[in-house]
Amino acid sequence: MPRKVVVLGAGPAGYVCAIRLAQLGQQVTVVEKEYLGGTCLNVGCIPSKAMIAAGSLLHRISDASAMGISAKEVRLDVLKLVEWKAGIVSKLTGGIGVLLKNHKVDVVMGTGRIASKTSVVVQTKEGAKTLTCDDIVIATGSIPIEIPGFAFDEDKVWSSTGGLRPKKLPEHLVVIGGGYIGLELGMMFKKLGSKVTVLEATGGALPGQERDCVKVIEKSLEKMGIELLTETFAQGFEHKAGKSYVRIKTKSGEDTIVCDQILSTVGRKPYSAGLCLESVGLAVDPKGFLVVDKKMRTKVPNIYAIGDIAGQPMLAHKGSKEGLVAAAVIAGLNEEYDARCVPAVIFTAPEMASVGFTEEQCKEKGIAVKTGMFPFAASGRAMSLMETEGFVKVVADAKTDEVLGVHMVGPEVTELIAEATLAIEMGATCEDIARTIHAHPTLPEAFMEAAEAVH
Ligand code: FAD
Ligand code: NAI
Repeated sequence: MPRKVVVLGAGPAGYVCAIRLAQLGQQVTVVEKEYLGGTCLNVGCIPSKAMIAAGSLLHRISDASAMGISAKEVRLDVLKLVEWKAGIVSKLTGGIGVLLKNHKVDVVMGTGRIASKTSVVVQTKEGAKTLTCDDIVIATGSIPIEIPGFAFDEDKVWSSTGGLRPKKLPEHLVVIGGGYIGLELGMMFKKLGSKVTVLEATGGALPGQERDCVKVIEKSLEKMGIELLTETFAQGFEHKAGKSYVRIKTKSGEDTIVCDQILSTVGRKPYSAGLCLESVGLAVDPKGFLVVDKKMRTKVPNIYAIGDIAGQPMLAHKGSKEGLVAAAVIAGLNEEYDARCVPAVIFTAPEMASVGFTEEQCKEKGIAVKTGMFPFAASGRAMSLMETEGFVKVVADAKTDEVLGVHMVGPEVTELIAEATLAIEMGATCEDIARTIHAHPTLPEAFMEAAEAVH
C-alpha cells in the first residue's frame, strides 16, 4: 500500500522530496503558500546568479582593452535585465509545475498547518481544506533576518528580494552584512555601475569561510573600489529629499553615510511561523531549527524535516539531498543522510568554493595535515581567460594522504569544486588526484597540481 504523504513547502527540499516520493510509488500532496520552487528558484539562487552573470558580462566587455577589444557604448537597461531574469525564473518554476503534474503529485496552493500527527489544514483562497496522511514532511525553508531600524519596505530598504528586482540602478548602495548575499549582490551592483559600501559587523568579509580565500576576495573588493567597513554596525537611518542618511558605529566612533539605497543582508532564519508544531509536541531549537536524526525524522517518528528548517548549512543542494533521504526512508528503504561533505560556492568576483575541512578545523580536531597550493597565475587557461587571481588549496591527512578539504578562489571555481567533492566523497588520496590525467589546457588542472604540491 502506498503511503499518503503531505510535504509542506515546494522549495528545492520539498519539491525534490515530493518527486522522489512519487517515483517510489507513494501518494503525495505538496502544499505551497507562495510559489513553486521556493526561495531558491524565485528570489534566491537562480535570479541572483542570472543577474550576477549579467554584471560579469558587462564588466568583461568594458574591461577587455588588454585583449584588444574596446566597446564604445555599452549600456545597461535595468528593467530589461530584470525582465530577462524573471523569464528564467518563470521557465524554471513552470518546469517544476510540469514535473509535479507528470509525477501525479497533487499541488495545493495555500498555507499549511499541522493539525495532528496525521492531518494538515491548508488555508487556501477557497477556504480551509483538511488533508489526512500517514507522514508529514516539513520543508518550510527560511526568511531574511530584519535588524532594528531597517525594516524591509523593499523601497528604501531592500532585502535580497528587493535587490533582485531593482527599478533603477542605485547611485550609491549601502549593503549591511558582508556575507554570502551582501558580497554576491554588492559586487554585482558595482559591476553594473553603482558605488557600493559594505558594512560588516565582524573583523572581515565572509566570516566562517577559509581565510586565505577570503583575503583574495577582500583584495578584489578593494581593487573594484568597493569600500568594506569592518567592525561596523548600522544603527538606523533617516530619509530626506531622496537620500538615506545611514548612521553607523565603527571602531573609531559614530558616522553617517549618505546613499540612495540600502540592502540589508545580515543572514536568514528558519521559518516555522504558524505551523502549530506544538499541536504534535514538536518545538524548534534555540536557533529556530527543527532537530532531526540521520533519517530526517523529527522526534515525532512520522514527521520529517528537510532543507533550511532542518539546520545549517542553509544551501539548496543540502536541502535537496535531505529531501531524497526523507523520501527513501518514508518509502521503506534503508537510507540515511551520510554525505561526508557539502560543497559551498560563493559567486563573488573572483568566485570562491570550499568543500570539507579547512586547515584550522583539522588543527582543532587534532588531525595532522599537509597542504598543497597552486596559483591560477601559473595556469595557461586562467591567463587566456584573463582571470589569474586566486588559487586551489588542498588539505590532506598527513598520515593517509586522503583529501580532507579543498578550498578554491578564482575563475569558475564554483564549477571546479565538483571534482573535489567527489574526491572527498570517494575517499581519494592526493596521489589519486595527481595520477589522474586532466585535459590540457583547462582550469581543473589546478586541482591536480595542488594535489601534487601536497607531496
Ligand atoms: P525554501 O526554498 O525557502 O522553500 C520553502 C517553501 O515553503 C517556500 O516556497 C515557502 O513559501 C513555503 N512555505 C513556508 N511555510 C509554509 C506553509 N506553512 N505552508 C505552505 N508552504 C509554506 N543556496 C545555494 O545553495 N546556492 C546559491 O547560489 C544560493 N543563492 C541564494 C541567493 C539568495 C539571494 C538567497 C536569499 C538564498 C540563496 N541560497 C542559495 C539559499 C537557498 O535559496 C536556500 O538554501 C534554499 O532555498 C532552501 O530550500 P528549502 O526548500 O529548504 O526552503
Ligand atoms: P550570511 O550569514 O552569509 O552573512 C551575514 C553577514 O552579516 C555576516 O557576515 C554577519 O557577520 C553580518 N552581520 C550580521 N549582523 C550584522 C549587523 N547588524 N551589521 C552588519 N553586519 C552584520 O547571510 P546572508 O548573506 O544574508 O545569506 C543567508 C544565507 O543564504 C547564507 O548563509 C547561505 O546559507 C545562503 N546563501 C547562499 C548562497 C550561495 O550558496 N552562493 C548565496 C546567497 C545566500
